[in-house]
Parts: sequence; C-alpha cells; structure tokens
Amino acid sequence: MPENPQAPQDERTPRTTEDTPGPTAPHDSSIPPSSGTRASAPTPAPDAPPLIDLRAYGQDFVTDPYPYYAKLRAQGPVHQVLTPYDQPAWLVVGHEAVRTALADPRLGKDWSGANLPRADGDDVPLFTNMLDVDPPHHTRLRKLVAKEFTSRRVEALRPRVQRLTDELLDAMLTAPDDRADLIEALAFPLPMTVICELLGVPSMDREAFRAWSHELVSPTGPEAAQQAVEAMSGYLTTLIASLRRESGEGLLADLIRTSDEDGDRLSPEEVIGTAFLLLVAGHETTVNLIANGVRALLEHPAQLAALQADDGLLDNAVEEMLRYDGPVETATWRWAAEPVELAGTVIPAGSAVLISLASASRDPERFADADDFDITRDPRGHVAFGHGIHFCLGAPLARLEGRIALRSLLERCPGLALDNAAPSATWRPGLLMRGTDRLPVRWDR
Ligand code: HEM
Repeated sequence: MPENPQAPQDERTPRTTEDTPGPTAPHDSSIPPSSGTRASAPTPAPDAPPLIDLRAYGQDFVTDPYPYYAKLRAQGPVHQVLTPYDQPAWLVVGHEAVRTALADPRLGKDWSGANLPRADGDDVPLFTNMLDVDPPHHTRLRKLVAKEFTSRRVEALRPRVQRLTDELLDAMLTAPDDRADLIEALAFPLPMTVICELLGVPSMDREAFRAWSHELVSPTGPEAAQQAVEAMSGYLTTLIASLRRESGEGLLADLIRTSDEDGDRLSPEEVIGTAFLLLVAGHETTVNLIANGVRALLEHPAQLAALQADDGLLDNAVEEMLRYDGPVETATWRWAAEPVELAGTVIPAGSAVLISLASASRDPERFADADDFDITRDPRGHVAFGHGIHFCLGAPLARLEGRIALRSLLERCPGLALDNAAPSATWRPGLLMRGTDRLPVRWDR
C-alpha cells in the first residue's frame, strides 16, 4: 500500500466549479474517446487509499503535469482519483507499475462490468475498433490492418512524406514577417495528409474532421463531445458508403473489398471504427510529437546547437522528444475485470483505470535526471507508444514523419526560435493528449 497518497503538498489554485465540466462530461482519455458518466459518488474500499481530486490541481496540472506526477510517484504507484471530468478512476504512475498495468490482461476494454456507465451506449460504430476491444476481437482487427504499417511498408512512403514536408515548408517560408504557427503550417497538415492519402480519402473535409477529433480527444464539455460523436459518425458513414460504391483505392477500399487468407473481413461497423481510429490516432498524436518536440528543442538552446552540429543525433533526439514530453499523457481507459492487485494496492472489479505514460517517461528510477531534456541520453524504454497488445500500430509511421519534419525544419529555417511576441499557446484540456493549440515560431531570412 502506498503510505500517504494525498494531493501534492504545494497544491496550486484549486479549479473552480465554473472551470470544470459537469459530472456527465464524456471521458477524456480514450482514442476513441468513449463517453462515460459518473453513476454515483465512489464508495472507497475500507482499506483503499484516500481519494485525490485532480480537479483541485487546476490549470497548472494541464499546463505542466510533471511536478504533480512526481509527487504522486513519491507517494506510491496506484492512486484513487476523481478525474478533471469528475469521474472516479484509479491512476497508475511510475515506469514499472505503468508497464505492469499495460501488460495485465485483467485490465482490459470490457465495459460490461464497469462502474461508469457509457453515455453513448456500447454499440457506436466509431468505437468498434482494435483499441476499444480485448482479444480475440482485438487480435483479429489488428491483424487485418497490421501489414500496412510495418517498417518496410512505411519506408516506401518516405519520398511522399519528404515531398509534402518540402511543400509545406515552401509555403511557410513565404510569410512576409518570417513568423508562423508551426502547428498550422506543418505539424497538423503533414500527418493529416499522409493518413488521408494512405486510407484513400484525400479529399476528406479535414477542417471539420479536425474540429470533431479535437473535441473527442480533448473534450470541452459533454454536449460538444456528444455532438462531435454524432457528426463524426454521420460523416464517416457517408464517406465509407461512397467508397463502397466507387470501389476506389487505398487502405479503406481494400478493407471493404478484400478478405484475408482465412476469408475474414470487417463488418460495416468495424470499417467505420477502423477508419475513425486510424484517422484520429494517425494525426492527433503526430501533431503533438512535432510541436512538443520542437518546443522542447527551442526551449533548450544547447540541445538545439548540439543537434545542428551533428545531425547523426536526429533519431535519438526524436526518441528523447517522445520521452520528455510525449503526445499521449495517459493511455486509454482500462477496466478491472476482477479485483487486481498492483504494487500492493487492490483495484476493485469494475473500476476504471488510467495509466499515466507521462509519469513513466519522467520516472527517475528509470531515467537519470528524468526532467532534463537531453538528446544524447539513452531514452529507450520510454512508453510514449504504450506497451503490451495495444502498442502503437503507427509507431514506424510516426517516427518517419517526426524525423523528416524535424530534419527539414532545421535545414530550411536557420535561426528558428519561439516567437515570444505572439500570444502564448494554450494546453489542450483532458488527460489523454498532451499538446497545445498553437506553436508560434520565427526564423532568420
Ligand atoms: C508520435 C505519434 C504517436 C504516438 C505517441 C502514439 C501513441 C499511441 C499509444 C500510447 C497507443 C496505445 C494506447 C493505449 O494502450 O491505450 C497507441 C495505439 C495505437 N496507435 Fe498510435 N501513436 C502515434 C501515432 C500513430 C499513428 C501515425 C498511427 C497511424 C495510423 C497510430 C495508430 C495507432 C493504432 C491503430 C493504435 C491501436 C493499437 C491497438 O489497439 O492494438 N498511432 N498509439
């Protein structure tokens, strides 16, 4: 049992009720972000650790969660919490406990015994995807698309990713004042275009999709999130119906058309769920890799200089960016299928479990001077792509895009720096994603 798992001592300004979405807010920590409402106040087990209300940490926890995770880690690996959306959950922190939890089959995706009802029902096609189901359903869905994301298949995309990056930077560098929002200019359009082309939906309405996707992974409130689920479901249903009619090209058309060797094929709901997962996971995360990574580099001029002096450090720098301020803060929701003992604490059956990747990658027990951004360290063992059966299917693609974007940006933009004259960026709400709405930069001509 952790000794005294209370709120960090230097607790900052508590969030007011005005800041906080109500108790019916959809949950904020799932790709896809399935909704849940709080059924009733949690009834802690008699020997359960005290309840920590994450809402009390306020906006500081959104902007910089790492000091809070450090204090929680110091108090123990497993904590009973109320999320920023007032949902009872168990939060796992620290490298060892996080890896153990991610690999534990008893912490799965089956909501049926859960103590948080699902506001949107269990049969929403968007959520019929590999990240929302357990084996054997997971195994089957993953196998049907895994061959498209192997390192070899992804490597074939290199020329296209490079050409897109060059075009986006060409356009960015025409800015008359030598300033731009890097998210708008590069970090968003690059992965969004790549995943749309890969799936065979090049003319998708990306701005509409982007807005719904943002609302789903970082909800601003229950109604807006529910509307986004409906809008996204309607849009993808129509899109896939037209692909079915037109027998087009690309991964989605292939999935609709073809069977695998066993004669297996995806049901219509599974096609919608798979399209949703790949489109959302394929861009939201990589946007944050590029933006959080470039921010970290520009905030550490000695590291920037080291990379400019030796581009052999580039791949390692991208791994350190994933470790230091990775795109995903907590893994998607898990549910305890039975009482699960983790590091001496028993998580009751039916409990919702959040596993903090951010806390694992900054754990000093695993990484010396973990809060230092150091592109020469050995960052292997970070869990930015998760761990276990749901380990990120898109990791090779994300790495390819991140490396090409970073190398090209540094080559093309001498004197790249944060644009401190621009209004400061805002960190997006929720526990799932870690990223800002903008990244203002400037460069020398
Ligand atoms: C830097 C970028 C990325 C990061 C940090 C990232 C991170 C993650 C993480 C942490 C998970 C596991 C979540 C969990 O266990 O709850 C995951 C799963 C997944 N990711 Fe990524 N991801 C990235 C890019 C991508 C891309 C480009 C794709 C491409 C399509 C993708 C597709 C997926 C899929 C399909 C899953 C579900 C795998 C499964 O359930 O078996 N991701 N990702």
